[in-house]
Amino acid sequence: MKARYLSFKPFLPWRNVERPIDWPGQFGCQAPLEVEIGFGNGEFLARRAQQRPERHFIGIELEWASVQRALRRIAKSQVPNVRLLLVDAHLALQRLFEPLALQRVYSLFPCPWPKERHAKHRLFSHAFLTLLNSRLQPDGEVLVVTDHEPYLRWVLEQIPGSGFAGDWRVIAPHFRTKYERKWVAGGQQDFYELRLQKAAHHEVPPTKEINVQARRVGRFDPQNLDLPPAAKLCSDHPPVTVRCRDFLYDPERRKAMVAVLVVEVDLTQDFWIEIACRDDHWTIRPARGCGVVPTVGVQRAVDLIWEAAAGQT
Ligand SMILES: C[S@@+](CC[C@H](N)C(=O)[O-])C[C@H]1O[C@@H](n2cnc3c(N)ncnc32)[C@H](O)[C@@H]1O
Repeated sequence: MKARYLSFKPFLPWRNVERPIDWPGQFGCQAPLEVEIGFGNGEFLARRAQQRPERHFIGIELEWASVQRALRRIAKSQVPNVRLLLVDAHLALQRLFEPLALQRVYSLFPCPWPKERHAKHRLFSHAFLTLLNSRLQPDGEVLVVTDHEPYLRWVLEQIPGSGFAGDWRVIAPHFRTKYERKWVAGGQQDFYELRLQKAAHHEVPPTKEINVQARRVGRFDPQNLDLPPAAKLCSDHPPVTVRCRDFLYDPERRKAMVAVLVVEVDLTQDFWIEIACRDDHWTIRPARGCGVVPTVGVQRAVDLIWEAAAGQT
């Protein structure tokens, strides 16, 4: 079987490192940092990293298949100055980069979500531009290239108040990425290049993470646990929704597992909470190995299960 990737080294499992990430520490030295959002096959990212060996490059992608293809490409080009993150760009910018950390950000052919009812999925919203602005250095720049003129118009509408000055032009294809080839094969020759120059700074601090507290109960009856119904905790700021989806119990190990879904403004997490017997009490906490980002929502989920267990008669 053909190996999907030749080296795993450029892949950074961000859930297991301290956040915001110490990027010079990851690369072993200080250098200007460039980010590509939605790198697809990694063609542009690997090429750009090869052209600029004195810079560091971070690729952000949502799709694991794309990460695998990019890993293969990076190994073949033998570029040491690239790291790949499998993560949503909102979360990455919010939690993995300090303010003023970035020199340049690229996004080639971001999904345009052409239908009006899907507009909420478009990446370069006003809020996202403001977040990008806060992570860029004073002379920083964002380059967005799209095949879709209405998407360009929509992004232009998002700029006022984001701290960017925008300038766009029609360009010929020259990025040689999968999606550019796809549109060229379909007959398109004109693409839209938008450059966003940082003109003013907006402060958006990285989201603070918390220490999730484990909880204890003296008694626990797995046959009689009344799991909390889906709970939208609007009194919390920002709001949190917690849904318990499944329950398992292993009588031999005296361990119960509750599958929970926790939805917060910038993060949705699907993980297990364990209720495990230790000597004379039961401990309730996120199960190890779930890679949970410790948030207020995770604590709320632990506490809801704690309340259900503590309320057993
Ligand atoms: C239309 S493709 C373009 C891929 C590549 N840039 C190219 O030119 O071939 C858009 C890419 O952005 C990724 N993507 C979409 N939304 C994202 C997000 N919120 N965070 C990170 N990547 C995202 C998708 O998985 C997809 O690979």
